[in-house]
Amino acid sequence: MSIVLVGAMLVLQPGCRDRTTPVAPTTTTTTTTTVPAGIQAEPLRDAARESGKLVGAAVQSGLLADGRYAGVLARHFSYLTAEYEMKWDAIERVRGNNNFGAGDAIVAYGQANGMQIKGHALIWHGSVPEWVGALSAADLRAAFENHIRTVAEHYRGRVIAWDVVNEAIADDGSGLRDTVFRQKLGDQYIADAFRLTRQADPQALLFYNDYGGEGLSQKSNRIYDLVQGLRAQGVPIDGVGLQMHITATNPPSEASIAANMRRLASLGLSVNISEMDVRIRDVPGTAQIRLDVQKSVYRSHVGVCVAEPRCDGVTFWGFTDAHSWIDRQFGADDPLLFDEQYAVKPAYYGVLDALWRR
Ligand code: XIL
Repeated sequence: MSIVLVGAMLVLQPGCRDRTTPVAPTTTTTTTTTVPAGIQAEPLRDAARESGKLVGAAVQSGLLADGRYAGVLARHFSYLTAEYEMKWDAIERVRGNNNFGAGDAIVAYGQANGMQIKGHALIWHGSVPEWVGALSAADLRAAFENHIRTVAEHYRGRVIAWDVVNEAIADDGSGLRDTVFRQKLGDQYIADAFRLTRQADPQALLFYNDYGGEGLSQKSNRIYDLVQGLRAQGVPIDGVGLQMHITATNPPSEASIAANMRRLASLGLSVNISEMDVRIRDVPGTAQIRLDVQKSVYRSHVGVCVAEPRCDGVTFWGFTDAHSWIDRQFGADDPLLFDEQYAVKPAYYGVLDALWRR
């Protein structure tokens, strides 16, 4: 459907499916723009529900007090992930001194707005508290077990899933990443983490999550081998998250992602797109061309999940270009669905079309 904003009045184009709550005109201004505010646009979560999928966003607890941020989030998303607040370093910066306040605020916000919550991420080399580096193997084992048990028990009944182990495969797919966990606990730390999480929270779906293995590649082969091995050993793993931090200039092909999802699903696993964003700063041409290319990547790649019965949904790593980790990590960009003023971008329409299967 298309929406044209005339002044502050939302006009639905004839013949289109109305899933928005029309907003009464509040001004007589004659300004015309085709860029509706995110708070007025057709809710993504309604379209996702029709397709039986969750549509999620990673959030920062400190921004929930911002009315525009919280308003757009509640309107469009049915699934929340804490961008930082549920990671080990955020919770236990000082050993034994657990801080759940910020994560709890995200859970409370999600529950108040009818959203599901995914826990992210119990074991990740990128968020290990500093004190962990100095531990002996035996002490690390104790801290590792205590961390998983304490955090998974704390959120039991409030999260529907956990990213249990994050990014354990080396970037080039040559084998397991060389982390403090692997060095001191051995390769079986991965299986141990899943077993410990299942004990602490028997209901949550347990995911392995990684990046750069969305399509068929050496890295996704290693991810496949890892999770196949875990399944064969009877380790409690329910699914794989494909992060999907990609560039519009060089995205993995749809066919390749679909084939990768299918082979994971054939192991009895569910899959999801867990951290999607699409960088566009290297796309040649005008700003409009960059945004249109980005729309088409969102349309096609979210569409792969919509078409795969075992794909539970898509989570974006943020939703507004005003707050994205990409700017810090890769340089200034506009990788998300809403612009810095919380207006919808072409990318939003790409996702909406994919969720409606059109
Ligand atoms: C990033 C967050 O966006 C940052 O705010 C934080 O400082 C570091 O982590 N893969 C992941 C996420 O699994 O947890 C990362 O999130 C982005 C890459």
